[in-house]
Amino acid sequence: MKGLAGKTAVVTGSSRGIGRAISLDLARNGVVVAMMASKPSRRAKNSLKIIQKYSPGSKLFFARIENRVEVEALVRKIKINFGRVDFLINNAGINHDKTLVKMTYFDWDEVINVNLTGTFNMIKNVLPIVNKNGRIINISSIVGIGGAYGQVNYAASKAGIIGLTKSLAKELAKQKITVNAICPGYTKTDMLKTIPNKILIERLLPQIPLRRLAEPSEIASIVTFLCSKNASYITGEILPVDGGLL
Ligand SMILES: NC(=O)c1ccc[n+]([C@@H]2O[C@H](COP(=O)([O-])OP(=O)(O)OC[C@H]3O[C@@H](n4cnc5c(N)ncnc54)[C@H](OP(=O)(O)O)[C@@H]3O)[C@@H](O)[C@H]2O)c1
Repeated sequence: MKGLAGKTAVVTGSSRGIGRAISLDLARNGVVVAMMASKPSRRAKNSLKIIQKYSPGSKLFFARIENRVEVEALVRKIKINFGRVDFLINNAGINHDKTLVKMTYFDWDEVINVNLTGTFNMIKNVLPIVNKNGRIINISSIVGIGGAYGQVNYAASKAGIIGLTKSLAKELAKQKITVNAICPGYTKTDMLKTIPNKILIERLLPQIPLRRLAEPSEIASIVTFLCSKNASYITGEILPVDGGLL
């Protein structure tokens, strides 16, 4: 992809799932990646090893994105290791699915704090070190557009990311930084394991025109495109990647 070699990216939630696929795709295109997870784990370490095969300068950092103090400390470390960065990919996210009647205040607070406030915390702290012509890409969800049964907290957090993206695109245009959001459909990761198999096969799959789940690499390739020079005139866009579901 055009214009990516030698650039630097911060990717949250890159220990596994979509974030790992994003880090891998960027690394294969010559980008040095500051990978990020909430805590040390064997999977995070393995993911780093795989990404370093393609981009030896890549490193792994830890912070809970909902915690401002941890994010500030993380960004200080990124600055020491990388100086400035070109791309910020806000991918980390969680779900606690229940109907509103059963949803606890903890379920609401934690999902909003991690998904929405975490995205804000990352942008607020990383923005001062983002280069001109940089890119901010937020991973929202089709649920943020269409809603979903049992996901009022998750849907609200992902809809919030859409509003944040559209507003920030207008604010950062003068700095030549583009801001876009991707809305994945159902994608094969740990997060999907929270949906019972029966519901997935009998209710959700038949609604997807392409009749299959997304591979994490199919979300990652769109992130890489949005980081490339080919996407230099796209900002404030909300892009579903959902097999035709919406
Ligand atoms: N999978 C889907 O069907 C789907 C559909 C639409 C949108 N999305 C969105 O895509 C993004 C990635 O999802 P995924 O399916 O790849 O999820 P996943 O496999 O569950 O991975 C989640 C990632 O987020 C990190 N994370 C979780 N809580 C965090 C916190 N408090 N602070 C920092 N990092 C944290 C995890 O790090 P640890 O390993 O340290 O826990 C992990 O790297 C999410 O924003 C999700 O909402 C997913």
